[in-house]
Amino acid sequence: MSVLVTGAAGFIGAHVVRALLARGEHVIGIDNLNDYYPVALKTARLRGLIGEQANFAFHAIDFADQAALADAVAGSEIDGIVHLGAQAGVRYSIENPRAYGHSNLVGHLELLELARQRQVRHFVYASSSSVYGDTSTQPFDAEARADSPVSFYAATKKANELMAESYAHLYRVPMTGLRFFTVYGPWGRPDMALWRFVERIFARQPLPIYNHGKMHAISPISTILSPACWQRSIGHPPMTARPSPAAACRRMPSIISATTAPRNWGGWSP
Ligand SMILES: NC(=O)c1ccc[n+]([C@@H]2O[C@H](COP(=O)([O-])OP(=O)(O)OC[C@H]3O[C@@H](n4cnc5c(N)ncnc54)[C@H](O)[C@@H]3O)[C@@H](O)[C@H]2O)c1
Repeated sequence: MSVLVTGAAGFIGAHVVRALLARGEHVIGIDNLNDYYPVALKTARLRGLIGEQANFAFHAIDFADQAALADAVAGSEIDGIVHLGAQAGVRYSIENPRAYGHSNLVGHLELLELARQRQVRHFVYASSSSVYGDTSTQPFDAEARADSPVSFYAATKKANELMAESYAHLYRVPMTGLRFFTVYGPWGRPDMALWRFVERIFARQPLPIYNHGKMHAISPISTILSPACWQRSIGHPPMTARPSPAAACRRMPSIISATTAPRNWGGWSP
């Protein structure tokens, strides 16, 4: 099977590429290696894959660029698409909404079009728990209404679900949207809480705390990659990856400082 993975140099995308290659699949990876966070981290994630794995082809292109995307995949078979590339980050969307319009709306449309043209067997894409907005109803339920986004990032992710729904309906392409909660693990993202906690604990600085300490839930990358997760998702869009309880997030700083050298982290910021 040949799978196109977008966001292949990203945190989740690079893990998915490795998992697919380990399963013996052919993988075409796409990423524009943008500098939202250090590009060196993205290229390091790809090390050992580009030019070394015969089953892996990588294209450093912008998937919102219709012509560049068509060129990159011309002549390649594509059985499935795992669309993980996006402008991520809730807070960045407050100052940079256009980046989200470009990658998450125009880019998502281009990938849907590709899925339609190629009539792929399955189109899996990343949505986000942020689509739940400020809801206090827990546990989160994929059937619950999620139409009050509190960030433009969340609005683009909700739009992705609606766009996918219309393509699934009109063109009968099987689609699954995965509403990831905060994902953590090796090769994570420097803009995310876990990375920042570790950085600041080592610098003995107070930890940034948002949303008045009301924490979101988290999921280890292993649950995202587990075959069961992908299996369950097939044919039931959208689904909510089962996260750890929010209480586990609150214990994170003490766990990190207990397992690393610095014992005295600076505490939470007010
Ligand atoms: N990591 C999480 O906790 C989390 C939570 C909820 C949802 N998500 C979603 O999961 C997906 C993967 O997230 P991640 O943590 O790996 O993010 P990431 O930023 O590490 O990876 C996204 C990759 O997409 C690439 N990209 C962005 N726009 C592009 C474009 N126009 N053309 C080509 N490449 C482009 C970036 O260069 C980046 O490498 C994203 O859709 C994100 O919104 C992630």
